[in-house]
Amino acid sequence: MEHVLKVNQLNKIYDGKNPFQALTNITLDVEPGEFVGVMGPSGSGKTTFLNLISTIDRPTSGEVIINGQQPHQLKKEKLAKFRRRELGFVFQDFNLLDTLTLEENIMLPLVLEKEKPSVMEEKLSKIAKKLEIDKILKKRTFEVSGGQMQRAAIARAIIHNPALLLADEPTGNLDSKSSKAVLEAMLDINRREQTTMFMVTHDPLAASYCHRVVFIKDGELYNEIYMGDNRKVFFQQIIDVLSMLGGNADELLSTRG
Ligand SMILES: Nc1ncnc2c1ncn2[C@@H]1O[C@H](COP(=O)(O)OP(=O)(O)O)[C@@H](O)[C@H]1O
Ligand SMILES: [Mg+2]
Repeated sequence: MEHVLKVNQLNKIYDGKNPFQALTNITLDVEPGEFVGVMGPSGSGKTTFLNLISTIDRPTSGEVIINGQQPHQLKKEKLAKFRRRELGFVFQDFNLLDTLTLEENIMLPLVLEKEKPSVMEEKLSKIAKKLEIDKILKKRTFEVSGGQMQRAAIARAIIHNPALLLADEPTGNLDSKSSKAVLEAMLDINRREQTTMFMVTHDPLAASYCHRVVFIKDGELYNEIYMGDNRKVFFQQIIDVLSMLGGNADELLSTRG
């Protein structure tokens, strides 16, 4: 089967008085159903990389191919449609609309696609049960916890069955218990729905939920490691690579304890 995501020789130079090469020759393939983590010190280019994949920003050179299409080649309207259909986004600060209930937030992608109400209801109820938020769907964001908000954000990100779920520090604003619930939910969806996931994270524990973790240093691919059959061993391997990477990784580990 074709790769869900292919990145070929990707380069990003931020123009300006002092042009800065943020990414250099990044090449990466992601398999259907794979859960990939991206780690690296602060300033290494993680957000830049995610922004090029999500089409928020344009590469200086190189290709991004998602589900056989090159989104950066699309005109504005087609690109908007492509993002709506093929991608799901999860952010550190949840990005839910406060004026809507959780269920209204979750249904937004289907509303934009003018889906039939009966289909919307069915998809909503299925996904809400899976994420264990079915009892709080009528609540608004300020009435639920951070972990519940993030699970609602995940529901919204996947309700339209995107080819690729992109997550930028999804556990960055959560305590360890809520983080665990969110990661378990992502893993469960990844397994059951075969949703391909691409997650930037600072957190070695979050990264240990992935099948593979790719490390970036100074805008270049530094290393990648795969989980074997033991998540605890993988967690330790991630920590070992982070300590080799240096940068702020050491600080990060000492603050995490
Ligand atoms: N819009 C921009 N203009 C110029 N430089 C930028 C811009 N965005 C990011 N950078 C630089 O590119 C590098 C990578 O940034 P970023 O992708 O945000 O790293 P990370 O997410 O790993 O912390 C950093 O040195 C940063 O200062
Ligand atoms: Mg960043």
